[in-house]
Amino acid sequence: MLKKLLLLASLGLARAATEPDATLAAFLNETNDKLAAAYDQEVLGELRNELQGPNDLIALLQVEIANEKLINYVKSITPRAKKYVRLKLGDAVQRRQLEKIPQLGYEMLPEKELRNIYALTSNMSENYHNVHLCAFGQPQNCTLKLIPDVQQILHESQNLKEIEYYWFEWRRCTGLATRSQFVAFMELYKKTAQLNGYAHAEDYWFRSLELSGRETMALLDGFMDALRPLFLQFHAHVRGSLRKMYGEQLVPKGKPYPQHLAEIFLGNAFRRVKAEWFVDLPYPDVGLPNITEALQQRNLNTTMRVFWHVAEYYRELGMPQLEDDLYRNAKPVANLDGDRCWHKAWRFYDLPYTNFSYCALNDEERFFNMFEAQSDLHYYRSTSEQPTLLREEPFPSFSDAIGKSISLAASSPRYLHKFGLTRGAEWRDLPARLNRLYLQGMRVVFLLPVFYVLDRYRVEVLSGRIRADDNEAYWRLTEEFTGAAAPRRRSNEQFDVPAKLLLEVDDQYASHIMSIVLQFQLYTHFCNLTNQYVDGVDDKPLDLCDLSGQRQVGPRLRRAMALGSSLHYREVLQEMLGERELSLNGLLSYFQPLYEWLVMQNRLNGLEVGWT
Ligand SMILES: *[C@@H]1O[C@H](CO)[C@@H](O)[C@H](O)[C@H]1NC(C)=O
Ligand SMILES: *[C@@H]1O[C@H](CO)[C@@H](O)[C@H](O)[C@H]1NC(C)=O
Ligand SMILES: *[C@@H]1O[C@H](CO)[C@@H](O)[C@H](O)[C@H]1NC(C)=O
Ligand SMILES: *[C@@H]1O[C@H](CO)[C@@H](O)[C@H](O)[C@H]1NC(C)=O
Ligand SMILES: *[C@@H]1O[C@H](CO)[C@@H](O)[C@H](O)[C@H]1NC(C)=O
Ligand SMILES: *[C@@H]1O[C@H](CO)[C@@H](O)[C@H](O)[C@H]1NC(C)=O
Ligand SMILES: *[C@@H]1O[C@H](CO)[C@@H](O)[C@H](O)[C@H]1NC(C)=O
Ligand SMILES: *[C@@H]1O[C@H](CO)[C@@H](O)[C@H](O)[C@H]1NC(C)=O
Repeated sequence: MLKKLLLLASLGLARAATEPDATLAAFLNETNDKLAAAYDQEVLGELRNELQGPNDLIALLQVEIANEKLINYVKSITPRAKKYVRLKLGDAVQRRQLEKIPQLGYEMLPEKELRNIYALTSNMSENYHNVHLCAFGQPQNCTLKLIPDVQQILHESQNLKEIEYYWFEWRRCTGLATRSQFVAFMELYKKTAQLNGYAHAEDYWFRSLELSGRETMALLDGFMDALRPLFLQFHAHVRGSLRKMYGEQLVPKGKPYPQHLAEIFLGNAFRRVKAEWFVDLPYPDVGLPNITEALQQRNLNTTMRVFWHVAEYYRELGMPQLEDDLYRNAKPVANLDGDRCWHKAWRFYDLPYTNFSYCALNDEERFFNMFEAQSDLHYYRSTSEQPTLLREEPFPSFSDAIGKSISLAASSPRYLHKFGLTRGAEWRDLPARLNRLYLQGMRVVFLLPVFYVLDRYRVEVLSGRIRADDNEAYWRLTEEFTGAAAPRRRSNEQFDVPAKLLLEVDDQYASHIMSIVLQFQLYTHFCNLTNQYVDGVDDKPLDLCDLSGQRQVGPRLRRAMALGSSLHYREVLQEMLGERELSLNGLLSYFQPLYEWLVMQNRLNGLEVGWT
């Protein structure tokens, strides 16, 4: 065996790349099978937890054991996999599979440091969930959790002192409290990158994107530049609203707005109930549609009916018909809390089926969520011809982008009207459209710079340009890109970075930015392709495009889905969109009517744009 490998190595580079190699084929065959079995054990545990949940001990144990087995297995094959890579054996598909063999990651660290980094990651995420704050003005009453308690108080509060108090306490108890852990974590993270063969730790941070640190930041910088004109106008408008509420002393002209007040204002866009009461809509009298009641009246009053309604939408796009058994075998999830209760498709690698779990709540959010869950289902099924190693998405949240672009189409007022889910004719008119764009814009446009700052900060730390706890550098980035400032100047005495980490401490945000960009890029592309959107034609604006019944869309989506991660995401985009690069143009076209309205409003109201 060794002899054979050495021989091939000496023949070496000349014959690399073209021919499949038989030894490698057997190795990959076994690897694909073993990984499939290990992944399935993990998925079964997670599915069980979702159905029995939220903390089913048997399920959690099953996931943990499956994960440990997986790590053991990956450890056992890593030396051989590395050897094959070094020898440059095999054809393109085989080498792609070799690249996709899971890496050991933290497991490369020496035992003691390994235990340390696991403790740090779990401590930091637990801290966020376990912190308790004392209530404002009640030093004996110290049982408030960040979410939902403090969040809820902030949403209702009109008391500036109270709002400020929680802003500072939140940061003291999350950021400052975990400062030394964050610093220690970043050191170990750099070491992990090095041990996994990455000369630059930023490259390791973005490895799941298959872009180097430099390429990722160039991409994200380009997005920020392109977003800037829209962001500045939106920011100016929100700052104007904040000034109306809180006065010029707190919200001075030409300066970043105060973050503690802006966060509450922007957070209103995410309210579950009656967002329009709290958001400064362009046309408050027109309001926003709420289809929850109409769903009941329109015979979409059970999850099963919604399921088949959405299945029909996909079938009319040219996607495969779903079989009756799928819903018959589907099960309700345990958690009925509106924040955690979602429909979900479950993919298995070895077991020959796909499962579906559903949330038995029946409202607007669950209705649109059904479009996303069924998109995942089609995705999982489309990739089933790929070997296990090539079945994942081209980058994390890629599948999400597809599902969300379809649910965006399904939330189009034209579609809702078609199904009798909204009444009247005002859905066509600019006021109703602007209201919808404004609320969506608050959810999307303000998020992108926040995500950007978090990853930019990590890159600066990982590349050694700043220390891991350089709070002043963090605020310089925050002010520059998000236009928000702390209520009082922050220094390196404090540390605010962990206060914003919504994900685990070792998750990057770039893929979320890319996913949002792709969502709008896909939507715009398919709306243009099917002639539902024609630039400059009055009755075909982008935001009314609903895609229903457009049979060209499904087959294109499926061809791209079926590629899994067998190719770089650029090649997958080429297949799906006819272009290789992610572009913010779709998002900008989508929000163009809002942009024009904001420019006009800001001019009419004498609102200054930008800050120093
Ligand atoms: C892979 O394994 C399957 C059985 O698990 C076998 O039928 C197939 O021939 C194997 N392929 C290769 C290339 O070894
Ligand atoms: C993983 O390997 C370790 C060390 O060889 C062993 O002690 C452990 O039982 C294995 N875990 C599983 C789940 O197989
Ligand atoms: C994790 O938290 C516990 C309790 O808060 C603490 O004792 C321990 O030192 C922390 N671990 C690390 C690695 O910081
Ligand atoms: C503690 O403060 C919260 C928030 O103000 C309040 O809802 C709760 O009733 C208080 N609890 C006690 C025991 O005073
Ligand atoms: C929509 O209406 C339903 C029932 O009337 C209500 O429970 C729900 O909170 C409303 N949703 C929003 C987002 O306002
Ligand atoms: C749904 O609506 C149908 C009639 O349209 C009615 O018979 C049924 O009881 C309703 N089901 C629920 C769960 O409300
Ligand atoms: C998953 O789907 C299979 C085949 O449709 C079915 O037999 C099984 O009961 C389902 N399992 C769960 C947990 O829903
Ligand atoms: C729509 O597609 C046509 C080609 O079919 C192209 O010329 C045009 O630029 C596209 N418009 C947009 C806004 O993408």
